[in-house]
Amino acid sequence: MSSPSARPATKAVIPVAGMGTRFLPATKAVPKELLPVVDRPALAYIVEEAARAGLPEVLMVTGRNKGAIEDFFDRTPELEAALEKKGDADRLAEVRASTDVAQVYFVRQGEARGLGHAVLQAAAFVGDEPFAVLLGDDLIDERDHLLEQMLAVQAEHGGSVIALLDVGRENIDKYGAVAVEPRPDAAAASGDEVVLVTGLVEKPPVDEAPSSLAIIGRYVLEPQIFAVLRETAPGRGDEIQLTDALATLVERGRPVHGVVFSGRRYDTGDRLDYLKAVIRLASERDDLGPPLRAWLHEFVADLPAEGASSS
Ligand code: UTP
Repeated sequence: MSSPSARPATKAVIPVAGMGTRFLPATKAVPKELLPVVDRPALAYIVEEAARAGLPEVLMVTGRNKGAIEDFFDRTPELEAALEKKGDADRLAEVRASTDVAQVYFVRQGEARGLGHAVLQAAAFVGDEPFAVLLGDDLIDERDHLLEQMLAVQAEHGGSVIALLDVGRENIDKYGAVAVEPRPDAAAASGDEVVLVTGLVEKPPVDEAPSSLAIIGRYVLEPQIFAVLRETAPGRGDEIQLTDALATLVERGRPVHGVVFSGRRYDTGDRLDYLKAVIRLASERDDLGPPLRAWLHEFVADLPAEGASSS
């Protein structure tokens, strides 16, 4: 086991350069990371999560057609002046908070050559420290402190840490999958299980998957990942896969731990999960929740039985 890293992670990288094909045609003109979850872009929740976890410096890896993301995190003096003039203090505070939450930087990926390639664009920004990667379409409920737990595991054990979710064997071919060994001595503060990752494979056929544990969109990576990414050939889908680079780190004996998440997570790049996120988060809000819940009860009572299960 390597010695824990002397320096804790202070920077977050959010790749947002993907094409968002699952959400076409909406994503022809609007980046999927800006689709509103209630009244805030999915990406705003993710930047807030990074800041809450103690990572106030955020680099977004963007691409063509993603200019609106830079606009969202820029100041809007005209809008702020108009709200001030109208005396709309609440909305003014919300508009300001969305830009003040973190120091946001941007770099371009150039070509969408895969998540590993997107992460590689952050090398100069990150330097020689561990850092977090949060996928721009993967929303973790703010009551579940996944990233904080992962940062704590990284600070204690060094190496890299990935977030895992049991998606069931029948769904594993849509994800990166892992082989793991238990680490009963390393439970996370929340009680989420911590495991040692012994192998990784991107989107394996169901009958070849090493487990039903899928990699989800939070990583805390050691800076050694950049050297490995530089020599990682395009893999699945002809893209440079972060999963392949992590597999190389494991093969070279570097520690990679997994935190098996048991909380609430929404893939906002997936239409059904996106709808679930909007409904759940809106129904729990003080302002919208009471009328929405009342309407949902009526709506559900009138629905024909479908036999579909909910999650
Ligand atoms: P996804 O595979 O979910 O993104 O990548 P995608 O390609 O945009 O989605 P679909 O499948 O076509 O609908 C996970 C994350 O990695 C980023 C995406 O923006 C997303 O946040 N990504 C992916 C990049 O930044 N660059 C890439 O080359 C690929």
